[in-house]
Amino acid sequence: MIMLDFSNILTKEIGNNGVLIDEIEKNAQKAIKLISEKPYKELNFLELPEQDLKELKEIGKRVRDYEYFIILGIGGSALGPKVILEALSPFHNLRKKPKVFIYDNVDPTTFKHIIETIDLKRTLINVISKSGSTTETLAAFLIFWRMIRERKLEVKEHFVFTTDPEKGNLRILAEEYEIPTLVIPRDIGGRYSVLTAVGLFLAEALGIKSEELLEGAREISDRALSEKLNQNPMAILASSLYLTDIQKNRKIVVFLPYSDRLKTFSEWFCQLWAESLGKEGKGTTPYPSLGTTDQHSQLQLWMEGPEDKLVLFVSVDKHEFQEEIPEEFHDIEGLRFIGGHTLEELINTEQLATEMALTMSKKPNMKLVLPKIDAYYLGQSFQFLQVVTSMAGLLYGINPFNQPGVELGKRLTFGALGKRGFETEGEKVKNYLKKQRFII
Ligand code: PA5
Repeated sequence: MIMLDFSNILTKEIGNNGVLIDEIEKNAQKAIKLISEKPYKELNFLELPEQDLKELKEIGKRVRDYEYFIILGIGGSALGPKVILEALSPFHNLRKKPKVFIYDNVDPTTFKHIIETIDLKRTLINVISKSGSTTETLAAFLIFWRMIRERKLEVKEHFVFTTDPEKGNLRILAEEYEIPTLVIPRDIGGRYSVLTAVGLFLAEALGIKSEELLEGAREISDRALSEKLNQNPMAILASSLYLTDIQKNRKIVVFLPYSDRLKTFSEWFCQLWAESLGKEGKGTTPYPSLGTTDQHSQLQLWMEGPEDKLVLFVSVDKHEFQEEIPEEFHDIEGLRFIGGHTLEELINTEQLATEMALTMSKKPNMKLVLPKIDAYYLGQSFQFLQVVTSMAGLLYGINPFNQPGVELGKRLTFGALGKRGFETEGEKVKNYLKKQRFII
């Protein structure tokens, strides 16, 4: 089980910058009570470990016949798959097949590089969109659709859609063109969907048993409602992040894993935290980081900059390899002392030293410890942070499952691109562009 060390946010350890353990426990109990009442249907993500994987595995087997696998999706429909790829199959495209590309950002140059690398005849394209109406995803889909048709290839052999069970544009096309389709359950929101076909289909394509991800997640679901606080680190973490914000004004959460394999996990967490909690003037700003790299980039700011941050370390007990650093140059102390240790020892010692340095400077920090990175613990980590984020939302008294703030930008894009029904927004864009600008 993932472990949480919250010693370094306690007043006992960091004095006035810290919070009281009684307060943490009180709010953790409150978070458990709130989540147990299941105020939002989207909390059904807790039931995902029990889902039936038969269909997903059937279609998943097919992917291995292809040389290239492309995912088109964005936000919650891309970040989870990116984590699965990078955490569970690092350097995948240099070592294994199918070669995987996750195209989310509609950057034309990225598109050009993908298209020059792949051979469409041997490519399966997984279009992921819960709503089936996301402009970026649909634009990329239209381009690939046209290309597949122009090559006289069968669309049903080159596309798999992952979408809502009943509605949306992709659902309509799937029925008309017999495209194989996987379901994102109705109640599951985009950023809480990595443990549905959104992430699990890619896992199967990579030859990773998706049930292992779910087994890890199950342990979290089983504990999420437990009132025994020593069984429920999610409630303690949610309560701690909430209290350090509202009592100590720590408005920035630096998410700091010490493993390259968890770099995109930082991005995934930051989307989950930001889009779930940043509303009604509430929430804290998540900041994606990476250790040890950011010790040589950001640490100065965390140590001596504004008193507005909390650092959440993620350390990994056992890394996959134990490369030993050779003992050379015995006469040069600057090189001698490094020899004889392993890279694992070094990365974990650097984490410990940074944690101690922050604590000695009275800067609040906490640590999640993963025993190792594999499908089981990755599934557990996803579910852990999904529970923490939901609980934090309930403590703030906001709905952690909607995102009303992103709608206006979407509507203006529709207006600018001429979508019917968005003429007013289109006018607003034109007027904005006509306004006097102060540009030098
Ligand atoms: O969390 C969310 O709801 C969003 O980030 C969505 O995942 C993102 O906007 C993509 O939406 P969709 O899957 O409907 O294309």
